[in-house]
Amino acid sequence: MTKGLVTVFGASGFLGRHVLRELVRDGWRIRAAVRRPHTAQDLRVNGAVGQIQLVQANLRFKQSVERAVDGADAVINLAGISYKKGRQTFSAVHTLGAKTVAEAAAARGITNIIHLSALSADKDGLSAYARSKAEGEAAVLASVPTADVLRTATMFGEGAGIFNSIARLAQLTPVIPLLGGGKTRLQPVYVGDVAKAVSTAVTRGSSGILYELAGPRSYTSKELIEFTLNAIDKKRLLVPTPWALGGVWGFGFETLGAIPLLNLLIKPFLTRDMVKGMKTDTVLSGDHPGFAELDVHVETVEAIVPPTLETFKTYGQFHQEASS
Ligand SMILES: NC(=O)c1ccc[n+]([C@@H]2O[C@H](COP(=O)([O-])OP(=O)(O)OC[C@H]3O[C@@H](n4cnc5c(N)ncnc54)[C@H](OP(=O)(O)O)[C@@H]3O)[C@@H](O)[C@H]2O)c1
Repeated sequence: MTKGLVTVFGASGFLGRHVLRELVRDGWRIRAAVRRPHTAQDLRVNGAVGQIQLVQANLRFKQSVERAVDGADAVINLAGISYKKGRQTFSAVHTLGAKTVAEAAAARGITNIIHLSALSADKDGLSAYARSKAEGEAAVLASVPTADVLRTATMFGEGAGIFNSIARLAQLTPVIPLLGGGKTRLQPVYVGDVAKAVSTAVTRGSSGILYELAGPRSYTSKELIEFTLNAIDKKRLLVPTPWALGGVWGFGFETLGAIPLLNLLIKPFLTRDMVKGMKTDTVLSGDHPGFAELDVHVETVEAIVPPTLETFKTYGQFHQEASS
């Protein structure tokens, strides 16, 4: 192990778990900074004995962030939320939290920083999510101009991500709404590829580059829903639905998600802010470097997704399509 010590915020998340494996392969010692270490002990088995250490840190608490980056050679910030809940607001996590991490790193002379943002980041974006991501990028670069910002498209992979969400929705309802007619374009990317990009960037050392990371091709949201239904061999009625109705559903899920105790069980499928975000295409701009510059081979939706959705089929891996 020769690469030094890297602190990873958001290590317990969907992407974080893949990133840890890549960092282990690349020879880093890892300090996984998580909010609840007692629920994340399993992260340590990704590395050799002692290679992954857990520390408690919450981006909303400056001192915990400072403790987590003390003595580190590099910092990776993967922390993020997809909907706000209590004090976990977009501004608190994506903007102020990112600023806190960058300032703590800068104060300790750490210049190798990888910051995870979103392809949808836009200071004038329709959604608070998109605006907070753009503001977070600016805050990081103001403190550490050498930080690399990695803007990722919506991710997919085993156990989570966009196709899992669609498949879960298909389990719950015979009718699937196509918000805005299902025309919005997305360019989903395999979480493992994004993890490789993160590890490569930190291993090379950041140098103030903005990367855009997305899969090989874009799809309309209707195509993604049809692909998922086909993969899990389920038929559902797809109904074009105006954006305004999506906002009403978003409000309904937000209300359910705000009820004490129930909010421990229910993760909002949809919020009003998500509906706003879905009105804008989220595809590569073509103006920035990406996977090719990081020497990462990109997987396709068609190659990766079907086996990851087997659990959603009526008889799981033993399911046989009606026609076969
Ligand atoms: N998933 C996507 O499709 C997608 C698309 C575009 C951009 N991104 C961005 O990519 C990054 C990784 O996404 P992901 O899918 O891995 O998200 P995720 O599964 O929701 O994980 C988010 C991580 O952030 C941590 N976190 C949240 N609030 C925190 C706080 N206040 N202090 C410290 N840690 C906090 C969570 O820790 P706990 O376990 O303690 O909650 C979790 O480890 C995020 O920045 C996200 O915005 C993701």
